[in-house]
Amino acid sequence: MVTERGAWGSRAGFILAAAGSAVGLGNIWGFPTQVGQGGGAAFVVVYLACVALICAPIMIAEIAIGRRAQKDPVTAFRVIRPGSAWWLTGLLGVMAGVGILSFYSVIAGWTIAYVWFTATGAVSGSQEAIGGFFGSFVGNAPLTIGLTVLVLGVTAGIILGGVRGGIERATTVLMPALLILLIVLAIRAATLPGADAGLAYYLRPDLSRLWDIRVFNAALGQAFFSLSLGMGAMITYGSYLSRREVIGVAAMWVVALDTSVALLAGFIIFPAGFSIAGFDPATGGVGLIFTVLPRLFATLPGGELFGAAFFILLTMAALTSTISLLEVPVAHLIDGHGWSRRSAVLAITALTAVLAIPSALANGAVAGLSSIPGLGMGFLDLMATVWNNFALPVGGLLIALFVGHVWRLDQALEELRAEGAWFPAPRLWGVLIRYVCPAAILLIIFFTIRDLAG
Ligand code: TRP
Repeated sequence: MVTERGAWGSRAGFILAAAGSAVGLGNIWGFPTQVGQGGGAAFVVVYLACVALICAPIMIAEIAIGRRAQKDPVTAFRVIRPGSAWWLTGLLGVMAGVGILSFYSVIAGWTIAYVWFTATGAVSGSQEAIGGFFGSFVGNAPLTIGLTVLVLGVTAGIILGGVRGGIERATTVLMPALLILLIVLAIRAATLPGADAGLAYYLRPDLSRLWDIRVFNAALGQAFFSLSLGMGAMITYGSYLSRREVIGVAAMWVVALDTSVALLAGFIIFPAGFSIAGFDPATGGVGLIFTVLPRLFATLPGGELFGAAFFILLTMAALTSTISLLEVPVAHLIDGHGWSRRSAVLAITALTAVLAIPSALANGAVAGLSSIPGLGMGFLDLMATVWNNFALPVGGLLIALFVGHVWRLDQALEELRAEGAWFPAPRLWGVLIRYVCPAAILLIIFFTIRDLAG
């Protein structure tokens, strides 16, 4: 094995790192925001269906490709099907890694600032004051750009430490701590006055929204994003996995942990939100958690401590995700082009920092970026939509087609059952990956484009 390639230290190492990649801002910031915009419980139902029927099978497929090829996503397709054009799927993933990281690091920067703001009590007072505080903070160009660069710098520093020392160690402590804090907050939120309305909004689906194609597209994009799928992050992490590990079990753990954290986040935000007079989840926008949670912390004894602990854990969860986003393009330069880890990390980090600037400026600092004329959304939203709702599902579609029809199921199953590994329901998985995933993704993308055009 080439010295620049790493390997996980243990099975828990892979599960924790993959779960660390999956659990992040997508769960705690993105999921409630999307539920709010998608009309509540109907979104939750569609989301869970996307996770079970489309995303979980693709998670297994990605890990299998990575472990078979032991390479970055571009090189992996080249190794399994030399001479074909399938490596372009990997290239789309490498580009998505940089694209997603460019806006993700901006929001991760906000969470760092909120550690400070909550600990010092800077964010407090009436709902208007809290909202106004958020608005003027995210509109502060030098501050938000500085925080974005800080996030990218820390991510680069951890990745320079390599796979085992850097990535694996960072995740091991974090995940249990985050889960415990979320459960405490959910219990507190459930006992607030008005919590019932929030729970009903979150749990009682409005059936008329169930067949709205926009809800499907948003839920599919959110599921891919939350599970870190569709761009080869799991191919890359799978490439550091040993043949002795059981892929089916690892994938189930990652999906279960990620989905639990997202659902828990909803059990915090909606009861807490509805306890605030005049709360409308749909208008919360990207600021939902930054404007609702400070009110929740204020109701707790030692709220400043809770608030700071929450944003510290959220920052750490975001960092284990930025690590995986950066690792994909970095692994590509190492495996595909023979770069050293060091030069690869420096080059991709610099490129991402430049691309991040318009997203950092798109929240009030520059009017033309905050609301792009004729588009009805800002630059950060545009990036999120393009990458999450289109690039990731298309990547997932290609991965499903590749595994189901090109690499072929018997080869994939051989990898999944390597060394006698247990794999649940191989037939079902085969049907899902060959037919259900491609058909569902194609239909959703087709109707979304038609909807946008019409
Ligand atoms: N899943 C992470 C989150 O929910 C974000 C993320 C990390 C990601 N790596 C990814 C999304 C790869 C898509 C692809 O916050």
